[in-house]
Amino acid sequence: MTAQLNKNNLKTPYFMIDEKKLVANLEVAKQLKERSGVKLVLALKCFSTWGIFSIIKPYLDGTTSSGPYEVKLGHETFGGETHAYSVGYSEDDVKEVVDICDKMIFNSQSQLTAYRHLVEGKASIGLRLNPGVSYAGQDLANPAREFSRLGVQADHLDPQVLENINGVMFHMNCENKDVDAFSSLLDSISDKFGAYLDKLEWVSLGGGVFFTWPSYDVEKLAFVLKMFSEKHKVQLYLEPGEAIITKTADLVVSVVDIVENGKKTAIVDSATEAHRLDTLIYNEPASVLESSENGKYNYVIGSCSCLAGDQFCETQFEQPLEIGQKLHLLDSAGYTMVKLNWFNGLKMPSIYCERATGEIEKLNEFGYDDFKRSLSQWVVN
Ligand SMILES: Cc1ncc(COP(=O)(O)O)c(C=O)c1O
Repeated sequence: MTAQLNKNNLKTPYFMIDEKKLVANLEVAKQLKERSGVKLVLALKCFSTWGIFSIIKPYLDGTTSSGPYEVKLGHETFGGETHAYSVGYSEDDVKEVVDICDKMIFNSQSQLTAYRHLVEGKASIGLRLNPGVSYAGQDLANPAREFSRLGVQADHLDPQVLENINGVMFHMNCENKDVDAFSSLLDSISDKFGAYLDKLEWVSLGGGVFFTWPSYDVEKLAFVLKMFSEKHKVQLYLEPGEAIITKTADLVVSVVDIVENGKKTAIVDSATEAHRLDTLIYNEPASVLESSENGKYNYVIGSCSCLAGDQFCETQFEQPLEIGQKLHLLDSAGYTMVKLNWFNGLKMPSIYCERATGEIEKLNEFGYDDFKRSLSQWVVN
């Protein structure tokens, strides 16, 4: 849907995706591909606002997914290579996606054994391996955590299973901004699994490599990826999500009230629990565009949900906040729009894109009917 919209008149809450910033990230991705030969598939679990895929498509090779609907969405709206992965497929799931994916990656040897016959001849077959090493700041997001269910570990691997597959996927990074740390993970994978990798066509190294972070050494990353793919003679893939979409969108909210109980809290028309869930899950406070490090007015930016501890952050401003004032919560693209929910019956943020031309385009808006339908469509008599 396209309409001439004025940024200043948009009703909050809303997400605003900035095309220029997105393209800047994508240009880094392009450079990485050209220098290393790696293929990049967008991790839809991080970002799947398909209304702007026309901007991303020219830069990436396809999509990867975590559930059957993401496979379908990637195939329908992005095209290119569609990778299907799930921690647990049902037989129906496999049947639903096998004809529209190029690669199907199983999480366990039992799933591979159970469903291989449905995939053979239709898609390239892969298995997720767990390298037992990782780079992740928080245990919750660490695929190599103790008792991990994600992928097959080296000591559980049946070498015969690897004889009849085309590729493997490792995912062991979360927001890894350190190319040397990534390089050591690759060495460890080579040592542990090298003999198997040499027999495969492709290896995916998953997501979590933050190559668009300012000062990230992209050239070095390209070099270590190239070395790895030449050593094992495989086509390499990365599955970036956050790296593509980082710092490209704001969640724009309005102050609706200011309350005081020891601290001043500005209550805004949004909630982390409904609209920016990772703030809460990972306890990572949001940054606010309008805040100022040396400002003398301190506020908790509180949500309008009923959850007592639901707040975006505590920060300082040069001037006192006012009711009706808009605040921009920065870096709100990855793992936000994909996790929106209707908790408390709050108004769902609209989604807009600011084009490179400055024009604003609406991608989505939601109303009461969407809320109601998400709860029931039919009534019992
Ligand atoms: C298998 C897999 N691939 C790719 C990604 C994307 O990671 P990121 O958004 O950190 O790049 C994830 C994230 O959890 C993942 O589990």
